[in-house]
Amino acid sequence: MSGTAPGGGSIELAGLTKRFGAGDHPAVDDISLSVASGEFFSLLGPSGCGKTTTLRLIAGFEQPTSGTIKLDGADVSGLPAHRRNVNTVFQSYALFPFLTAFDNVAFGLKHQRVTKDELKKRVNDALDLVSMAKFARRRPAQLSGGQQQRIALARALVLRPSVLLLDEPLGALDAQLRRSLKGELKALQERVGITFLYVTHDQEEALTMSDRLAVMHSGKIVQLGTPREVYDEPADAYVADFLGAANLIEVTFPERPAGSRFPVQLGEAVLTAHGEAPDGAAGSAHAVIRPERVRVEPHGSPGDNRVPALVERVVFLGATTQVMLRLANGTSLQSLLPNDGERTELAQGTPVHAYLPADALRVLRGAPVRSVEATEAAPLAS
Ligand SMILES: Nc1ncnc2c1ncn2[C@@H]1O[C@H](COP(=O)(O)OP(=O)(O)O)[C@@H](O)[C@H]1O
Ligand SMILES: [Mg+2]
Repeated sequence: MSGTAPGGGSIELAGLTKRFGAGDHPAVDDISLSVASGEFFSLLGPSGCGKTTTLRLIAGFEQPTSGTIKLDGADVSGLPAHRRNVNTVFQSYALFPFLTAFDNVAFGLKHQRVTKDELKKRVNDALDLVSMAKFARRRPAQLSGGQQQRIALARALVLRPSVLLLDEPLGALDAQLRRSLKGELKALQERVGITFLYVTHDQEEALTMSDRLAVMHSGKIVQLGTPREVYDEPADAYVADFLGAANLIEVTFPERPAGSRFPVQLGEAVLTAHGEAPDGAAGSAHAVIRPERVRVEPHGSPGDNRVPALVERVVFLGATTQVMLRLANGTSLQSLLPNDGERTELAQGTPVHAYLPADALRVLRGAPVRSVEATEAAPLAS
């Protein structure tokens, strides 16, 4: 399907809202965003936050309560689903069990005016694109889950939509397959140049594949940006928490915060942090630091932004070692150390100094979503 990269494929949502019942909380609540042509854009959020509903509104399977949807600059709100140049790949592959892989992919084309030869070429090209050419004659029951999802992808791509909507397409697959398909999907998207609007609750998928992503929470977008922006500069505790193991620690302000770098008090220690100085004077706020930024140093190490801590637990995770630290004020802090052969053993109960670099310690606005204690229980493997 080379050379089929269609121009266009931009999506523009303005004030998009969907309420299923009159008194219900909106499933999609006043969403506005623009996706550029050829962009890989993800909607990331927990189950029930409105991701699927947003896709269904764009596809035309649901009607918005209010707001507008533009594709390539044209308002499609009034168009039925089959008149919109978008296609959807679902988590459940929804293949016809009695048709071969080839015929499943060809199915959509039968309703278009293409010659037999062209149909054959386009189907074979699409199968090639997802590395399934040699399975063309198989029926879905003779294919693995990952292979079936490839066929579903080929079936969507063969129609040459300018936008592909993908609703947790890797959700039904096992972890290893998900990882390898993730890379392939991204490469495929770059090759075909189609705009991908990708929905997932898996932060790793969203972070690794997307050009930009929007983090959703109960129908709303809470943050929109590049993976690095959203990961490094989470807007609030919800985003920090959702985007992977973050240490959420409670800090107070020894003086009124001013500017973008200011002192915070953590137990006895005064550290320099950055972020948005909270409105109002004193009080407490939450600060976040990624476990991979917390450094464990020998007890008594000199320098700023260091706090004494005790090693509470050490968990070997393969590529990294997770070290749970406990500060004097009870705060628990997780550190993730690369297993690069550099380190000596850290035994439980060892007094150390934890180094929290100022550029990694970020004060967040917004309320905490869970207690500091819960941070410790959060599993790393997800
Ligand atoms: N057809 C429907 N009728 C009523 N409520 C619905 C319907 N579809 C989704 N919802 C509700 O809308 C909210 C968002 O659902 P959904 O978009 O499926 O979330 P997600 O895909 O992020 O898990 C949920 O509270 C869900 O129960
Ligand atoms: Mg869903």
